[in-house]
Amino acid sequence: MARFYITTPIYYPSGEPHLGHLYTTLCADALARYHRLAGDAVHFLTGTDEHGIKMVKTAAEKGIEPAELAEQMMTRFASAFEEFEVTNDDFIRTSSDRHKAGAQAVVNKMLDAGDIYLGSYEGWYDEGQEEFVTETEAKANEFKSSISGRPLTRFTEPSYFFRLEKYVPQVIAHIEQNPGFIRPESRRNEVLSKLKQGVSDLSISRRTLTWGVKLPNDPEHVLYVWIDALSNYVTALGYGLEEGSRDQGIEGSREATGSPSSPRSLDASSLDPFRMFWPADVHLIGKEILWFHTVYWPAMLLSIGEPLPRCVYAHGWWTVVNPETGKAEKMSKSLGNFIGIERLREYSQTYSQDAVRWYMLRAAPFGTDLEWSDVEFTRAYAELANVLGNGLNRTLKMVHKYRDGLVPDPTAGTLVDDARLLLDEAAKLPAELAAAYAELELQRAAMLPLNLARQMNAYVDATEPFKLAKNPARSDRLDAVLHHMVQAIFRALVALLPVLPHKAAEGLGQLNIDPAGRTMAELLEAGVPVGHKLGEGTPLFPRVDVPA
Ligand code: MSP
Repeated sequence: MARFYITTPIYYPSGEPHLGHLYTTLCADALARYHRLAGDAVHFLTGTDEHGIKMVKTAAEKGIEPAELAEQMMTRFASAFEEFEVTNDDFIRTSSDRHKAGAQAVVNKMLDAGDIYLGSYEGWYDEGQEEFVTETEAKANEFKSSISGRPLTRFTEPSYFFRLEKYVPQVIAHIEQNPGFIRPESRRNEVLSKLKQGVSDLSISRRTLTWGVKLPNDPEHVLYVWIDALSNYVTALGYGLEEGSRDQGIEGSREATGSPSSPRSLDASSLDPFRMFWPADVHLIGKEILWFHTVYWPAMLLSIGEPLPRCVYAHGWWTVVNPETGKAEKMSKSLGNFIGIERLREYSQTYSQDAVRWYMLRAAPFGTDLEWSDVEFTRAYAELANVLGNGLNRTLKMVHKYRDGLVPDPTAGTLVDDARLLLDEAAKLPAELAAAYAELELQRAAMLPLNLARQMNAYVDATEPFKLAKNPARSDRLDAVLHHMVQAIFRALVALLPVLPHKAAEGLGQLNIDPAGRTMAELLEAGVPVGHKLGEGTPLFPRVDVPA
């Protein structure tokens, strides 16, 4: 059994969650669902990044403590994910004891490796991004953030540094030798060329902050929020727990945070989540945080002697055209141009939650930027209704009308060319789907099953079963046509389970099939048995009358 560890970024709970956050999380959810159906042992992690200057400032503006802000807002993220039925296995908060102990263990390892030294930092900082900016970059952007356009801040203070420069050759070599490490391809070139321009050591502590993880060697300093945040991918698996429990009784506090107690006590290394799931298979992120994940994080892992993640995939941004400049800008809280959870809830109520999932994946090839369009949304919904919904409906209707709802035996019917096409398409589906998911081509993964349903509809149009039904001499042929219709729509629905979890299951329910307990491969292989009694059909995607 393969194992599959997938993560989303941990989100800053400094503002409300929006489409962008939900997008990454739902894309990761589709991957997690696919891998579970493929029979893999899946671990899907998301969470909140609760430290950093942005949190401190936002809390101050609201007149509350950062801890209070974190507490209030993380529940917004957690409940939005719950509402949209995200199947994450864990939710890590960087303010939790289990994370803080783990992050300190990471720093201790880096200290042991001789990779941290005391220096002083003078320079520019992008507070929105929580990112140090070089003099050259700052100048090039007129001392404003390249992401949010807000002014950079300048600061000077004693700071611990991580020997990032030392690891640059190894990071470059890793990226060059592992073409799948940074995806899509274009992003890989972007990182490589920036790396080759040279990278300095990284300031990793702030003395002027108290909100954060204290440096284990010097508690006057708080850990730089990105070092803190990136560690979440291992602390959530219990990294550093042994050291922690020996020294500070972390095991107890881990339980106090409500997280599941550690299976380590069972003394079975196969049950150790860190050993079982690290390295991650996919860190799914937005493209603005690629550098942190493909340079800082790998260097940290090299420093602590742990393997690097298999793939960092940077997807595109949901953008909004700025009416003043005519340019597409990243949808974000700071620009105030986002589609919030409220609005997504309305779409869900009108069109179903699966329609929202579908539109997100369908809107553009995965990895490229996207733009929300109501017209495109209704088109995407109509596509589901016409191709999948109608395909299922006409299949059910005809099998009930002509064969009492029993799946007919096709063997007596002659196999004509049009059926061959459909069967070929169906036969190719498992491998094509596996390839699309492996490559994280999520738009393709969503479209493949729909294309099979489309082919099925074309087959029906070509074979005209309603005419065959009028001619008793063609009864064998009708059996074959109906049989192939059932198999094709069944396979399309099975393959859509990761993307349309409700609608695909509902469709399978109408075929009177419960997919539970079987892998996708088993389901696709088995098909629907001859003689199986189909259920009743009701429109999967009812007509929606939207007020003009
Ligand atoms: N806390 C850091 C990440 C630390 S990961 C160790 C952070 N948080 S964030 O709240 O700003 O969330 C950023 C992520 O949200 C992006 O990488 C992306 O996954 C998602 N998105 C936020 N806005 C987005 C769009 N407009 N479009 C698509 N995804 C976006 O950065």
